[in-house]
Amino acid sequence: MAIDIVIKEVAPRDGLQAQSVEITHAQRAALIEALVRANLPELEIGSFVSPKAVPQMAGTDRLAADLPAGNSIFSALVPNMKGYELGRRAGLNQLAIVVSATEQMNQNNIRMSLADTFLMADDILRRAQQESIEVHAYLAVAFECPYEGKVSEKKVIEQARALMKSAPARLVIADTIGAANPFAVKSLMKQLVSEFGTEVLGCHFHDTRAMGLANVYAAIESDIRYFDSSAGGLGGCPFAPGAKGNVATEDVVMLCQSAGLDTGIDLQALLEAVALLTEVIGTAQGGRTHGWLKDNWQKLG
Ligand code: COA
Ligand code: ZN
Repeated sequence: MAIDIVIKEVAPRDGLQAQSVEITHAQRAALIEALVRANLPELEIGSFVSPKAVPQMAGTDRLAADLPAGNSIFSALVPNMKGYELGRRAGLNQLAIVVSATEQMNQNNIRMSLADTFLMADDILRRAQQESIEVHAYLAVAFECPYEGKVSEKKVIEQARALMKSAPARLVIADTIGAANPFAVKSLMKQLVSEFGTEVLGCHFHDTRAMGLANVYAAIESDIRYFDSSAGGLGGCPFAPGAKGNVATEDVVMLCQSAGLDTGIDLQALLEAVALLTEVIGTAQGGRTHGWLKDNWQKLG
């Protein structure tokens, strides 16, 4: 049976990229294995970025070379054509590129002007189509930027149109610093759905201001089916001050299951992955529902 809501698990990338504790290759691999056991349909294993910019993500190629068997589609984030090539060489067929909605965030994140980044995104997306690589285009800081403040809906819609011309496999609207609210999400996503349909759109929310799950709900109400989330709510961007954890995968799964929407995810195994994260990071991890879920997950059926 086809699942209703498709979750891309991003803890091994968004979750680990900003951690100050050292995380070993074996720990990253064990986390990926635990998440595959939880049957996450999509799993972002890391990124192919400059190791000087994000040392935590060095060695993603070694992870890609030894991925566990299971049902998950593996992907990685790439900031430029070099990253695209490294991701492909590592054998990944799904990659993510990021364009920030504002000039300043884009400069800080990938040291490139916004205009050049749109050109680069077009190059990568066209090449990916020829090479049958599925590339998800992310529009980051789509609601608010840590450097330039609020981002207008009009600007995001224009940028979405520009990216859609290059035919990404998915266009993901990302609230990188967790500043969106459900009303803004519904307004934006409804317009994008009416223009581009539901199958190509996704959302990526952070829970900085406790609105992560409400934003997921607002997007579901706007007919969005593709969501990013992070086991235990771990997450953050080293280049976006104030970016706290992603909306927690267990919270999104609980919301979906309690509404009768199937995610295909094994909750018990997901909680084991969160326990592993707690061990790896050294402090308690878990979404807002975690305390209740770990004793009551069976009740969700
Ligand atoms: N993967 C690995 N190394 C890369 C790379 C990639 N995708 N792109 C560039 N590099 C290397 C270059 O080979 C060069 O290496 P050298 O110093 O050994 O010669 C070095 O990085 C600098 O290359 P340059 O093209 O001048 O990049 P830059 O210094 O302008 O940095 C990025 C640009 C995009 C590589 C860097 O800012 C980056 O990796 N950002 C990632 C941001 C991120 O992950 N944000 C969080 C997720 S949204
Ligand atoms: Zn994020």
